[in-house]
Amino acid sequence: MLVLGIESSCDETGVALYDTDNGLLAHRLYSQIELHAEYGGVVPELASRDHLRKLFPLLRELFAAAEVPFAQVDGVVYTSGPGLVGALMVGAAVGRALAWAWQVPALEVHHMEAHLLAPLMEAKQDQGEALDFPFVALLVSGGHTMLVKVSDFGEYELLGETLDDAAGEAFDKTAKLMGLPYPGGPALAALAADGQRDAFTLPRPMLNRPDLDFSFSGLKTKVRLVWESLEDPAAHKADLAASFEQAVVDTLVAKCRKAVRVAGARHLVVAGGVGANRHLRASLVRAGEREDFRALFPTPEFCTDNGAMIAHAGALRLAAMKAAGQLDSEAFKASPAHIDARARWPLDQLSAFQPSQS
Ligand code: KG4
Ligand code: ZN
Repeated sequence: MLVLGIESSCDETGVALYDTDNGLLAHRLYSQIELHAEYGGVVPELASRDHLRKLFPLLRELFAAAEVPFAQVDGVVYTSGPGLVGALMVGAAVGRALAWAWQVPALEVHHMEAHLLAPLMEAKQDQGEALDFPFVALLVSGGHTMLVKVSDFGEYELLGETLDDAAGEAFDKTAKLMGLPYPGGPALAALAADGQRDAFTLPRPMLNRPDLDFSFSGLKTKVRLVWESLEDPAAHKADLAASFEQAVVDTLVAKCRKAVRVAGARHLVVAGGVGANRHLRASLVRAGEREDFRALFPTPEFCTDNGAMIAHAGALRLAAMKAAGQLDSEAFKASPAHIDARARWPLDQLSAFQPSQS
């Protein structure tokens, strides 16, 4: 089954063609980072307009790269949440319209499910290691910090999440405080490499609690107080960045170790932009070596937001529905023009499914 996938939940426009027999045919990605840089964060209205501006040129490029005609597409899938509602509506409207024009089924994809299943796409393409269920996924991006137990396709249990800021958000806000360019995470991480990790004593939030939740706003505030108390803060930038990064990494690693134990898992998958952080990666790999689990990281292009993971997750679901005869049902055909864009969409509302091969 050949499926077109569209991602537009935040500041990345992604499109991809995924074939359930042959894997990923092609994908294209456009990042709006420069557009939002001068505002120091994503501006929702600008994001929506830019998705609209870039989506059709990207689709044309995609079909040219994959060398397949529109007529071969068997289904269209698009991110329906969670994300920025205006941005989601662009991808949803374009996805539904194309499906209607091509007379093929359209399906909504949960952005987080797509992140969770992305490593399976790579394993299938022999680019990654095979994964065993159950595995634990740490999703750490600018908008999310969550630990999920993945027991099977569509069987997800939220083990813990942030009660306030996401890890990436804490990186970005701390970087902004230090006058680093947006998005601050990579800039702060680069600075931290030259600093001393124990130069400042910072809290490791929530580590004394038995649950698997996170909180980063207290740490962020503590860094600000330290920064404001310094006579020449610029002179201590690298040390403060390193101490902050160490506090975040210690917290994430401790909760991941606990989550893997609780879930009885052998694999830990890390997805989302913060997963690109080298110190976090190295620390998780070391923890895994000590405690007998493998920490796996999708290649960076599939770790951050992209259209390929949406096409992949949606194609697995569509093919399963087709095999079960659900695509012919009146309920599925009845609402071709209806679009949903969800700011929130709890993962445990998804149904379980068994992927079929065609
Ligand atoms: O998954 P992602 O690309 O997209 C969204 O959240 O929409 O994640 C972006 C986040 C940003 O907060 C960015 O600062 C952070 O990931 N990030 C990093 C690093 N690279 C990206 N944080 C820490 N260290 C990095 N190397
Ligand atoms: Zn994402």
